[in-house]
Amino acid sequence: MSTVLSAGNGPTALLDQAGDLRRIVEEKRQELRHRGRGSHLRTLAVLSGKGGVGKSNVSVSLSCALADQGKRVVLLDADLGMANLDILCGVSAKYNLSHLVTGSRELNEILIPLEKRVFLLPGGVGLKEMADLDDEGMERVFDLLMTLEDQADILILDTGAGIHKGVLSFAHAADMTLLVTTPEPTSVRDAYGVIKSLGGGGQKPGEELMLVVNMAGSRDEAREVAERIRMASMQFLGNAPAYLGYILRDDSVERAVRSRKIFYRSHPSSSAANCIKRLTNELLRLWEGRPVPVEPKGLRSFFLRLTRNFFVER
Ligand SMILES: Nc1ncnc2c1ncn2[C@@H]1O[C@H](COP(=O)(O)OP(=O)(O)OP(=O)(O)O)[C@@H](O)[C@H]1O
Ligand SMILES: [Mg+2]
Repeated sequence: MSTVLSAGNGPTALLDQAGDLRRIVEEKRQELRHRGRGSHLRTLAVLSGKGGVGKSNVSVSLSCALADQGKRVVLLDADLGMANLDILCGVSAKYNLSHLVTGSRELNEILIPLEKRVFLLPGGVGLKEMADLDDEGMERVFDLLMTLEDQADILILDTGAGIHKGVLSFAHAADMTLLVTTPEPTSVRDAYGVIKSLGGGGQKPGEELMLVVNMAGSRDEAREVAERIRMASMQFLGNAPAYLGYILRDDSVERAVRSRKIFYRSHPSSSAANCIKRLTNELLRLWEGRPVPVEPKGLRSFFLRLTRNFFVER
């Protein structure tokens, strides 16, 4: 730094100064890369085959329940077509990741605080735009996103419905994927379609797939639905996703949605909210058992895997 202080002593000093600056920038980059590698941030994608099965409600209520357990959560609206998680949460998103990509907004202008320890990050078309960036542009956006690494323990992605490539790349990129289905035969069939497209249960690290049965009439019905999907996967694909748990069909979810409230908050003792609490405990128990990821994880790694998949699949 001494050369910076002695600037103004001719061309040599200026050259030294430029060298110093380059070194500082490079050190900063190295530090960010290093931080990404040692990250403890977990990424959880919420997927379904059929639409309207409750992905968004599960994502939001899980975020709140995890926050109640002391976790800091960023909820990424990763619905590439109809990003409207803000409406479900009773807030209004003015900006999304696209504004970060173009550099017109800062991350803190895009993030929406939903409550203590929960932030909403509207993704929208910005996620696709990220995949189109060149290396330099990508690094710039990664650097901007890196502050999330210090602000969050878990990144939850609420995806759009359907077995299209964008959705599948979220599942490939995330540490864990929750596949949501209802007991309806069409939803069950489409859930199986997702499992098949993902290449089975995908029990290799980084591609863990877990079933969640939503709108179940009873615990037994949910188990029976999950077992049917698991057996078909086992028989035809050679492996099967694990069953994480269920959420009962509960009118309070619909009532909360209509009044733009988060059911987990507006109806905290409802049967659906109790199911979410159980699911959350199960997730935390699973994560406790696997504290140290083998391969590099974290936000940078997640977005790298995501954008790489977007590239490959188009
Ligand atoms: N456990 C439940 N009990 C009763 N109704 C529910 C339950 N979960 C979701 N719903 C109803 O299903 C509707 C759709 O839920 P949600 O928007 O979360 O689904 P989604 O899978 O995110 O839909 P999309 O595929 O359009 O993104 C909600 O508006 C609500 O009325
Ligand atoms: Mg949704």
